[in-house]
Amino acid sequence: MKVLVLNGPNLGRLGLREPDVYGRTTYADLVALCESAGRDLGIEVEVRQTDFEGELVGWLHEAADQAVPVVLNPAAWTHYSIAVRDACAQLVAPLVEVHISNVHKREEFRHTSVISAVADGVIAGLGVRGYVLALNWVADRKTG
Ligand code: DQA
Repeated sequence: MKVLVLNGPNLGRLGLREPDVYGRTTYADLVALCESAGRDLGIEVEVRQTDFEGELVGWLHEAADQAVPVVLNPAAWTHYSIAVRDACAQLVAPLVEVHISNVHKREEFRHTSVISAVADGVIAGLGVRGYVLALNWVADRKTG
């Protein structure tokens, strides 16, 4: 089974970006962490990141067409992108929304997600471990 782990804007700067909020784990570390979790779970994990909304929409279309499960950190698009939400709504396999930080403890504009209503589950505030937990759930769902 293949799972796509998709990341939105500024997540390529993990480790450099606001480390007090997002930690010191770099984007390269995050990719390695997800790939290693995939090996442990016996699933193929492909991790991508983009700062371009249309590129993410295209990847979501690809996931919809191929019925691939998605672990998605939409980053800032979480809070306002109806285009990303509409693309998520077309997915046929599970979708887990992940946030590294606890968005509910932060600024009010981060308390709203336009994605959550079309996701199967949401993980926030558990750091990059949230991605691993999401991959575990997706792998269990597929086999269980
Ligand atoms: C984030 C939270 C968002 O509010 C923010 O815009 C991000 C990252 C997180 O992983 O905690 O870029 O999705």
